[in-house]
Amino acid sequence: MSVVAKTDAAGERGLLPEVLAFSSSLPLDRQLLREDLVGSLAHLTMLSRSRIVPRDAAQLIRAELVKLWSVDPQQLPEEEDVHMAVEAMLTQALGETGGMLHTARSRNDQIALDLKLHVREQCAAALIELSALLKMLATRALAEQETYLPSYTHRQRAQPISLAYLLTAYGAMFARDVEALQFVLQTCDALPLGVGAIAGTSLPTDRAITQQLLQFAQLTSNGLDTVGDRDFALDFAYAAARSLLHASRVATDLVDFTTAEFGLARLDGEIACGSSMMPQKRNPDLFELIRGKSGRAIGNLTGLLVTMKGLPGGYNRDLQEDRQPLLETGPLLLSVLRMLRLGLERAHFSRERGLQALASDATQATDVAEALAMKGVPFRTAYQAVGTLVRKCQKAGIPFAQATAAMAREIDPRFDDEVLQALDPRTSVGRKRNAGGTGPAAVLNQIEGLQTAAAVAAEAAARVPRLAQLFEQLQEAAL
Ligand code: ARG
Repeated sequence: MSVVAKTDAAGERGLLPEVLAFSSSLPLDRQLLREDLVGSLAHLTMLSRSRIVPRDAAQLIRAELVKLWSVDPQQLPEEEDVHMAVEAMLTQALGETGGMLHTARSRNDQIALDLKLHVREQCAAALIELSALLKMLATRALAEQETYLPSYTHRQRAQPISLAYLLTAYGAMFARDVEALQFVLQTCDALPLGVGAIAGTSLPTDRAITQQLLQFAQLTSNGLDTVGDRDFALDFAYAAARSLLHASRVATDLVDFTTAEFGLARLDGEIACGSSMMPQKRNPDLFELIRGKSGRAIGNLTGLLVTMKGLPGGYNRDLQEDRQPLLETGPLLLSVLRMLRLGLERAHFSRERGLQALASDATQATDVAEALAMKGVPFRTAYQAVGTLVRKCQKAGIPFAQATAAMAREIDPRFDDEVLQALDPRTSVGRKRNAGGTGPAAVLNQIEGLQTAAAVAAEAAARVPRLAQLFEQLQEAAL
């Protein structure tokens, strides 16, 4: 095991090496190097503009920070955390001058900033991924308006729907995730840097400069709250867990639909996995893993909640335990959403199997009852008459669709020819007229809704100030 270095700078002279190693967050927050550098460049610019650090010193420090952008995070010196690792490299290059950067700043407000920048970046990437997923669902739904299959309640066949309607139902969940991530971006939009360790600084800083450089909408209002606030991380972890829960539910549908028992869909060879022993197998591992990995997101949210619960006000070192769950969340969300898109694109639904499934379970029975109700029969009476007809067909061993006029009129003479047209399950979807239903016009509306949500997600992502852009701008910013 590598030994964590000195950290005189953090006032921990004489710490047992094991204690230092135990308390180091560097193994995880190496991943925050770019966030840390962007934050430091902005802070440095503010210090220089506020005449707290002389301009020539700021220039020297900036040049070193810029060099660090291309350093492999794995090569950072073994310090207590990413902040001290950066400071160690600065002082190695510049001597005492390197120590000017940390003026009017604490690692407490610094880590809060790094994490907000991280969440902002991850939200942008997730919004781009959600946009692609929504676009794919809309395109696929347009092509599947005449593919019919049963819907399920209680996992029993319910009423006929179009595959387009199923896909737009999936899309509706992910459209809500777009809204959730936009909310997360709002909770990230107050700059924490500049409150120092807890109570502020006696130096003549100007937080508004840093805010403007890093493009935050506002400043956090209270330093004591700021250094202990991880609400933005919780909101992100929740939004991610909920989105992955959505992915997981879609995955369960696909796992089921591709079994011989449902037989509604088939997985393309590009995504179906084999068995090492059973040569005939075509397994939905991809969808099972999507379901399995979503559990991790829920674990991460729970972990963060537990870390926060019971902490007193201000900064507490427990907060460092936010690192593992938070840093895992973004990449997990991205990879699952991407895999879901690739997987859904390669799941082929069979029109024949869909129709067979519809016909074999009287899924159109409600339509027949509704057609009867349209003739003035009270719905409850119509419901009972159709129920009787369904049982009569079952007893006679014929599909419900083949119930005859004679059989029906024996139960109720109001089963006229128009009502009996509803016996064809292929007409069921077309009969639905309400907003939010499976009828063709409503589904077209839903598809448009997904296209809009995809565009909203892409635009929201484009508005996020990205780390790479900020880095470019900060290199040039007037000192
Ligand atoms: N490594 C710490 C963290 O990740 C940085 C803040 C440390 N602050 C302190 N006072 N020891 O939370």
